[in-house]
Amino acid sequence: MHKDTIGRTLGVAVAVCVACSIVVSSAAVFLKPLQEANQLRDMKRNILAAAGFSDEQLNVSTEEFDKLYDEMIDTEVVELATGEFLTGVEPEDIDDRKEAKNRELSMAIPDEQDLAKIKRRANRRKIHLYREDGKIKRIILPVYGKGLWSTMYGYLALAGDGRTIKSLAFYEHGETPGLGGEIDNPRWKAVWIGKTAYDEKGKPRIEVIKGTVAADSPRAQYQVDGISGATITGRGVEKLVRFWLDEQGYGPALDKLRAKEAAQ
Ligand SMILES: Cc1cc2nc3c(=O)[nH]c(=O)nc-3n(C[C@H](O)[C@H](O)[C@H](O)COP(=O)(O)O)c2cc1C
Repeated sequence: MHKDTIGRTLGVAVAVCVACSIVVSSAAVFLKPLQEANQLRDMKRNILAAAGFSDEQLNVSTEEFDKLYDEMIDTEVVELATGEFLTGVEPEDIDDRKEAKNRELSMAIPDEQDLAKIKRRANRRKIHLYREDGKIKRIILPVYGKGLWSTMYGYLALAGDGRTIKSLAFYEHGETPGLGGEIDNPRWKAVWIGKTAYDEKGKPRIEVIKGTVAADSPRAQYQVDGISGATITGRGVEKLVRFWLDEQGYGPALDKLRAKEAAQ
């Protein structure tokens, strides 16, 4: 009997497709919790790094890592418009990205204020605080905004004074490696450390300039070196930092934190 019929060939092809799709979809379903756990751990790692913990301190067992995070980092939820710290809301229940897209939980940003080019922003957002001996040592703010090709997501860490930049690191973006991608270069990240985020009037002032900041520039404390060949990405970073520090972003919450710390 002839076995090479069209029906049999198609039957085998369909059977292989069905078997493979079952394998792939089961893997996706079973691996989802693991992927989510890894993402959460990654986010915690970014936050601890923004708080000033070194790779060495973070390369520990999962239990020690979780303990370190829980002991060191306090996560608060703030209402951006008022700067109010919300109680009765579990930070884990909040998905910042989803809320920013939900029309009931977000607001449209007027064009002239939309420096980060994100169109809408969530009404409430998480911020993270790292305290030492009861005093706030780092205020870690999740920030994002448009570069040349992509939305860049990262953490901006301020000192307890709410003005001095301690670090800026992006964990997700799609800028060109070697050009805009140099925002990940440790040398560029280092130029942000110690810069002053606000001027004397309390306006976000930070500026990514073209070229290198001159030591004798009267504005040197607000200025950061540009990345050559990536002026657009650099400008995007400048604008998103300014946006999130201003009144549409964490400005009101930072005012409240400064007042609270001063009253202590
Ligand atoms: C393939 C390609 C990728 C680029 N990627 C970036 C980028 O990621 N970020 C950026 O600012 N400019 C990028 N540029 C360059 C911009 O088009 C623009 O020339 C540059 O931002 C100007 O910066 P400069 O004044 O420092 O040269 C890219 C250009 C090309 C051709």
